[in-house]
Amino acid sequence: MEKEIQKVKSIKGELRVPSDKSISHRSIILTSMAEGTSTVKNFLKAGDTLTTVNVYRKLGIKITEDKGIIKVNGKGLYGFSEPDDILDMGNSGTTTRLTLGLLSGQRFFSALTGDESLRKRPMKRISQPLKQMNAKIDGRNNGELLPLSVRGSDLKGINFFNKKASAQVKSALLIAGLMAEGETTVVEPYKSRDHTEKMLKAMGADILMYQQGEYTVQIKKTERLYPVDIDVPADPSSAAFFAAAAVILPDSELLLKDVLINPTRDGFFRKIKQMGAFVEYTNVREINGEPVADILVRYSDDLKAVQVVKEEIPSMVDEIPILAVVATQAEGDTVITGASELRVKESDRIKAVVENLKKVGVEVQELEDGMIIKGKSRIKGGYVDSYKDHRIAMAFSILGLISEDGIKIKDADCAYISYPEFFEHLQSVAVK
Ligand code: S3P
Repeated sequence: MEKEIQKVKSIKGELRVPSDKSISHRSIILTSMAEGTSTVKNFLKAGDTLTTVNVYRKLGIKITEDKGIIKVNGKGLYGFSEPDDILDMGNSGTTTRLTLGLLSGQRFFSALTGDESLRKRPMKRISQPLKQMNAKIDGRNNGELLPLSVRGSDLKGINFFNKKASAQVKSALLIAGLMAEGETTVVEPYKSRDHTEKMLKAMGADILMYQQGEYTVQIKKTERLYPVDIDVPADPSSAAFFAAAAVILPDSELLLKDVLINPTRDGFFRKIKQMGAFVEYTNVREINGEPVADILVRYSDDLKAVQVVKEEIPSMVDEIPILAVVATQAEGDTVITGASELRVKESDRIKAVVENLKKVGVEVQELEDGMIIKGKSRIKGGYVDSYKDHRIAMAFSILGLISEDGIKIKDADCAYISYPEFFEHLQSVAVK
């Protein structure tokens, strides 16, 4: 479905964007390994997280909903049952990669596939260290690409250096580590999102985290996990789109409610603040051990270009497309480097952003690991391709709000992967 976004005057009001995708995935995957019933309040109901629910049901886990609260009847670390068909992971890298860790230690056979985008995404980063743990995984190109098969086996702990600072890789190894003989250690040069280790700790896993220059997580083989009650805050990656809209549209003021501000996730907000945007965290509190705030954002007419470097990428890895949109309105050239991981997301996000920016009239230079965006650009408008990537569709919808002739987005409905209500929310805060 195509969508055309026209220029608006400003953004005003209050919004509680949908719940965090990463925490929602984990609230099903990890609790299904607990002994007993966990509850999840404010679970994100979107394409990717519903994929997780479906997959875990196929693995024999009872997941129900009562008055908006999800109940997960965990069956223990080895209580899953052999699925009678290939598991369909849809578009979801997180479901696939975390589940590979879980399936590696089960006593049965399983096979996984996904949509056209997911079948192109690299899996060796997961299958290789899992194989070192004695997992029996096979697939195209020696375990690089879906479809993949897993024959559960007895695992042993390893030491792993997570060079790419991928939270999905770390999480898969920690999940496998729960079932692996001895100790599993993951070291990261820059800390990636830490929801898995936080949740596992709350569930009673034998886990230790510390930072001494590098960030280290150690997990030991665990007897049992205890159920937990989870309340999922709003997703900072979804909030970023509306914050960007408020920052670039004159006279705007927006309050984004209940947003997760975990430092491994709020890099985008810190970065636009550094650019000179008005961003204020109010009502800061803690929910389930995660820091949460209401974020007040206002139009900022003197944005300055910035540099984004490798060590900053993990805390804003999914926000680079929308940061590039903000950069088109800053004074000077914004230089983003160290972001080669973007090439293997739901689409090649470097190529997608660069091509689409050029199509709407922005001067931009593609780098192997990032891009240089010319600021104070006039956004003429035009026709862009989402490449069926939710974050590209939403980023260019926001840019449409300041375009002269409007921006038409191909396959814009893919926003449902993380944010089904995106276009309605946009309507509700846009002043025409
Ligand atoms: C995620 C980790 C990140 C991120 C993805 C969600 C997670 O991927 O891009 O959208 O929930 O663990 P990587 O681990 O590949 O960096």
